[in-house]
Amino acid sequence: MLSISNRYSQLQPKVMFGEKKKFPSGVHIRWMIRRDMPEVMRTERASFEHAWTEDDFLRCLRQRNCIGMVAEENDVVAGFMIYELHKTRLNVLNFAVHPGVRRMGVGGMLVAKLIYKLVSHHRQKITLAVRERNLAAQMFFRSQGFIATKLLRNYYEDSGEDAYLMEYRAPDYSELDDPRALVNRISKYV
Ligand SMILES: CC(C)(COP(=O)(O)OP(=O)(O)OC[C@H]1O[C@@H](n2cnc3c(N)ncnc32)[C@H](O)[C@@H]1OP(=O)(O)O)[C@@H](O)C(=O)NCCC(=O)NCCS
Repeated sequence: MLSISNRYSQLQPKVMFGEKKKFPSGVHIRWMIRRDMPEVMRTERASFEHAWTEDDFLRCLRQRNCIGMVAEENDVVAGFMIYELHKTRLNVLNFAVHPGVRRMGVGGMLVAKLIYKLVSHHRQKITLAVRERNLAAQMFFRSQGFIATKLLRNYYEDSGEDAYLMEYRAPDYSELDDPRALVNRISKYV
């Protein structure tokens, strides 16, 4: 069995001929399971100054409305997201891609999966809070169609930092001729 660091070095971007390295073909998104925790924790610690503990993940995932998903390539977890289901929206609580495989489209694939879930269940929006200083994440979510809608003052207990509330709004379903066509289009990527 390879060590986790060797396993990460196996992750390679898949560059399609004449295209940017988007939606790497070998990556797939699936439910997070208990066995993923060591690799999820590795990405978590490498990504955040104020990282969640394993207990934080488990406590969260025990809630009935809380979902964990991972992006996996060659049996290695490349990224993950934790989100809550609400009646009209999905709320992202945690989201990260391993530093060794960023800017390869993995984060975009996770968002595409979220949008697929949003549209296929006719919910209205995806929400999340991003630290004011986390410019990379703000740029990333903007590139995925999210907009900052509110400044949340002193949002984080750990540092007192402010956050931006960012939102992705679903299309107006009543204006779509056939909402299933949209779901089918997104499903190509997830
Ligand atoms: C934010 C994060 C999830 C992005 O994941 P990723 O897999 O690198 O994202 P993608 O490769 O799909 O990027 C898609 C686009 O987002 C934008 N983007 C991503 N990272 C960016 C950065 N560091 N700076 C500017 N734009 C960025 C770019 O437009 C990029 O397209 P391009 O590579 O063609 O320029 C990743 O950087 C990460 O895990 N950061 C640490 C954890 C974190 O901040 N999580 C969010 C908490 S709210």
